[in-house]
Amino acid sequence: MKPYVYVTRKVPEEIYHKLQEQYDVDMWPEEEVQVPRELLLEKAQKADALLTVISDQLDEELFSEAKNLKVVANMAVGYDNVDLDAASKHQIAICNTPDVLTDTTADLTFALLLATARRMIESAEFVKEGKWKSWSPMLLAGTDVHHKKIGIVGMGKIGTVVAKRAAGFDMEIIYHNRSRHEVAEEMLGATYCSFDELLETADFVVCLAPLTEHTRGMFQREQFQKMKKDAIFINASRGAIINEQALYDALVAGEIAAAGLDVFEKEPISADHPLLSLSNVVALPHIGSATKETRMAMMETCCENLDAIFNDRPPKTLVNKNLLSL
Ligand code: GLV
Repeated sequence: MKPYVYVTRKVPEEIYHKLQEQYDVDMWPEEEVQVPRELLLEKAQKADALLTVISDQLDEELFSEAKNLKVVANMAVGYDNVDLDAASKHQIAICNTPDVLTDTTADLTFALLLATARRMIESAEFVKEGKWKSWSPMLLAGTDVHHKKIGIVGMGKIGTVVAKRAAGFDMEIIYHNRSRHEVAEEMLGATYCSFDELLETADFVVCLAPLTEHTRGMFQREQFQKMKKDAIFINASRGAIINEQALYDALVAGEIAAAGLDVFEKEPISADHPLLSLSNVVALPHIGSATKETRMAMMETCCENLDAIFNDRPPKTLVNKNLLSL
């Protein structure tokens, strides 16, 4: 009998057919609507494997009832939607999709930085709304990116590649991370500094840290107040790292100049959220890794991880590596 795989979001036919060759595949058929929790729990009880997305909560309640579940292939590099301890306790392998999305996510992060600094969304809407009357010296004037100081919070793989893009814009690069990143220092001239020094001196504060118990709520009003008044804040990691009310208050009080956000505390952010009423906020619907090539590569990685588990090989991108020693 083929292993039963439940896929929690509609995937392209190509991936679906590929999975069908080896598994008994069941899939939530919607592209933009999340699988209801009750149905996910019901499917998980029978599944040998789950292919999930970041909006699925995978916790003790789910794992304890999922008696056949061997592996979860989570289609993301981040896995803050998974209770890793619970998964390990039930000996369920959790796999993510790092590496294949690094450049794509760095591109989006840098695009968001440029779009926010150069007021590109506002400007594009200005033209489309027929508001453009004539060329004018200070019309929609933004702020320079080149030769400015970028402060990267979280110098992991994506942070390092963002730093590489920043170096191409002749930016001075400072970073804060749990540990020093010698490659970024040597190859890109990045300088390590404390979190406070980064906040106080960077022109662009770019958050790329994973969401953990240490980073949750890391940016409160106090952190925004420490930033320069003309600083621009970019978040491309997870919304819960910042306090959105504090960011809103800091923007309204003019304590920082603008924000570019790809991620939010609650996704999707509601259209009437106060942050979205501000012209100096560029908001995107969590599209860091969203290119056709990269999303396909992420799904391929998920398939490879499932294949590894069902062919008794260690998966390439296993997160709870402690399972390997069991
Ligand atoms: C997306 O946010 C990811 O973690 O891949």
